Amino acid sequence: TEFVSVSELASMMNVQSTEVISACMSLGIFASINQRLDAETIQIVAEEFGFEAEFVSADVQDSIPVAEDKPEDLEDRPPIITVMGHVDHGKTSLLDYIRKAKIADGEAGGITQHIGAYSVDVDGKRLTFLDTPGHEAFTAMRARGAQVTDVAIIIVAADDDVMPQTKEAISHAQAAGVPMVFAINKIDKPGANPDKIKEQLSTMNLLVEEWGGKYQAQEISAKHGKNIDELLEKVMLEADLLELKANPNKNAIGTVLESSLDKGKGYVTNMLVEGGTLKVGDIILAGKHTGRVRAMLNEKGRNMKAVPPSSPVSIIGINGAPSAGDKFYVMDDEREARNIATRREQLYREQGLRTQKHITLDEIGRRL
Ligand code: GTP
Ligand code: MG
Repeated sequence: TEFVSVSELASMMNVQSTEVISACMSLGIFASINQRLDAETIQIVAEEFGFEAEFVSADVQDSIPVAEDKPEDLEDRPPIITVMGHVDHGKTSLLDYIRKAKIADGEAGGITQHIGAYSVDVDGKRLTFLDTPGHEAFTAMRARGAQVTDVAIIIVAADDDVMPQTKEAISHAQAAGVPMVFAINKIDKPGANPDKIKEQLSTMNLLVEEWGGKYQAQEISAKHGKNIDELLEKVMLEADLLELKANPNKNAIGTVLESSLDKGKGYVTNMLVEGGTLKVGDIILAGKHTGRVRAMLNEKGRNMKAVPPSSPVSIIGINGAPSAGDKFYVMDDEREARNIATRREQLYREQGLRTQKHITLDEIGRRL
């Protein structure tokens, strides 16, 4: 069995993922950031950092009933497409153009600090996009983005190079087994050299189709909207191959993208519905929090009554702020939801009470 990933272990010990990666390397294990480690490796690596690893059982999560989908219950669902890449390489600009809106202008310093989620109709087809931050501080968010996505657009500015967070994004996508399409951006700039980017990718064993490889790439200008249709066609081609399906006729399940406390509205939770249909009035369990969905808003701020699979949504009604990456479940029984939340709360508290030099590895929330 494998337990936590390199990045999760690093954050438990409050060290950099790269430190864990080099500790693994000294054991002869070449681990990527999302790779899950086995118990023995975790124990040895934890010791290196002066921790003692303790494994607790996963009985809390086992009480959540998730029905298997029958093939006849499955229907086509929109693909979830995550845009990833180095800071300032043009992720938000690309989505802005696609959405014909102006998000980048409204951001603090133009730097994305959260996961933006948007549903867009392209030629009558619905696509769901996630924007991720490129700044190095947001590794965990990129990892999460890669985990919920179906296809990754890796964007690289042609007037720059394949950069550290470009490489990180690629390794997240690879670790999550997600197909990648490369968007070589800013080709309108005088210093742009798309061939140099393709060359740099090739040295990482990522050969683009044009050069006889298997990776689709598209030169674009997000700013001027050049070749965006061509890029979207390539992305849709990858998505079509996956034959993505979900069962819309069951209790909703999905992932928390982020949550915040709004003075007027209370806790606002941005989530991605992955299966089932989320409805106003539903009882939700998310991490160690519960609540009834009081209101749902789509990304345009419009009130929604029901939200189908592959849709981002903001909900009001959860009694706290679940962590980004927590799975959420709609439950039939409010008391059961509250019981599980309480047990999780207790478990988290006990873990918090343990000494600093003692980490606990559990499997909570790692069911899907
Ligand atoms: P982070 O969210 O901070 O990681 O950045 P980002 O990747 O979302 O980059 P963003 O879209 O905010 O763009 C960064 C800067 O590059 C902005 O000033 C954009 O106007 C500019 N930019 C983006 N795409 C293009 C392009 O195709 N051509 C030119 N000339 N500039 C671009
Ligand atoms: Mg951005």
